[in-house]
Amino acid sequence: MNIGKFTTIICLLAFVAINVVIISSSVADDSQPKVGYGRGGRMSGSSKSARSDEPIQPISINYDYNRAKVELGKKLFFEPRLSKSGWITCNSCHNLSTGGADNLPSSIGHKWFLGPINSPTVLNAKFNLAQFWDGRAKDLKEQAGGPIANPLEMGSNHELAVSVLQSIPEYVQWFSEIYGLEEMYGGEEINIDQVTDAIAAFEETLITPNSRFDLWLKDYDDSISDSEKEGYYLFKEKGCIACHNGVGVGGSSYQKFGMAKPYDKDTHTLGRYNVTKSEKDKYIFKVPLLRNIELTAPYFHDASTWDLSEAVNIMAEYQLGSKLTDDETGKIVEFLRTLTGDQPSVIFPILPPSTSTTPEPNRN
Ligand code: HEC
Ligand code: HEC
Repeated sequence: MNIGKFTTIICLLAFVAINVVIISSSVADDSQPKVGYGRGGRMSGSSKSARSDEPIQPISINYDYNRAKVELGKKLFFEPRLSKSGWITCNSCHNLSTGGADNLPSSIGHKWFLGPINSPTVLNAKFNLAQFWDGRAKDLKEQAGGPIANPLEMGSNHELAVSVLQSIPEYVQWFSEIYGLEEMYGGEEINIDQVTDAIAAFEETLITPNSRFDLWLKDYDDSISDSEKEGYYLFKEKGCIACHNGVGVGGSSYQKFGMAKPYDKDTHTLGRYNVTKSEKDKYIFKVPLLRNIELTAPYFHDASTWDLSEAVNIMAEYQLGSKLTDDETGKIVEFLRTLTGDQPSVIFPILPPSTSTTPEPNRN
């Protein structure tokens, strides 16, 4: 073949190829908005979708946060010196490599103490109406003060934790840049309020957008399979949705564990009663978020099962008084697995060294 003929053929092929691209992209334009971002550019650019009335809403991405504060909060989340032993961090029990939880029936704390309850995930925790199983902390900031001073968790106290940070010049500088220590407090004193505020700011960023189910909510029809979709319809029809709804697929109300049938596997943990001391609040718990649920076994406050299918069956039996067929359970579990989103990608922070005035770790 001579060069002239060859060039003509290539030009013709290129012409056909370009046209195919133009035609197919204009077809795609009809069904999907043009703006593309998120995983593989698959996220919808329009805010209104045909599924915006569904009782579960997608997680939206928020870029509007104080980066310096979040960065400081991240250091504190990974800071072992906030614990008495100098060894335990928030990440010990809310491991960001494993869905923001520790995958243990109950957490291991100071002096190897076993905690009384399963640790919930920190991922998407900002969507909870309050924090802890019994909702005893009103928000993430109030919550963050708890574990530092809990003898079964980090075993320290707020004065000690602050004095550790105060002894490290880098921390003093970061806190003062963010909170303006001198102007506000008349001295270079870090306080626990700032510590918990920064940790909470970091936790606010721990969201998991772009789950396959969220993409489906945004009209990307084939992002979930037919049987996953059937699982979602069952989740609605059977009544799970009454409690597990909203952006977090839970976290929006307190409900009795044992609505249809008394929950007999753990009668010692009283839930909301601990906060209100009202008899009617016994065995009432904050409804857990079901996002990333496949990552956070074991399930329930008492970790009574490791198996998500069994957890679904327990819910049907104790909350709804119904029995699911194996096929129904299987489909609901398939649906639940579509709720796993993009995990926060966290660059492991490098922490500043202790100084001669930093209190020494104490494992007793
Ligand atoms: C020793 C293990 C342990 C450590 C360390 C720990 N936590 Fe927790 N965390 C738990 C457990 C257990 C619970 C549930 C306690 C309850 O509800 O009574 C919990 C609950 C939470 C919750 C509430 C989530 C929800 O859905 O209600 C948040 C948020 C949280 N922890 C953040 C933190 C932060 C921030 C730190 C570090 C300052 C931290 N945790 C340190 C074990 C731990
Ligand atoms: C009446 C409210 C209610 C209904 C209906 C309900 N749940 Fe729950 N769900 C809860 C509460 C409360 C808990 C926490 C129980 C505990 O551990 O104390 C929970 C826990 C769970 C858990 C374990 C979460 C974890 O992190 O450990 C799963 C999974 C779950 N529900 C799925 C379902 C499914 C599937 C259905 C429908 C078959 C359903 N739920 C129906 C209130 C409800």
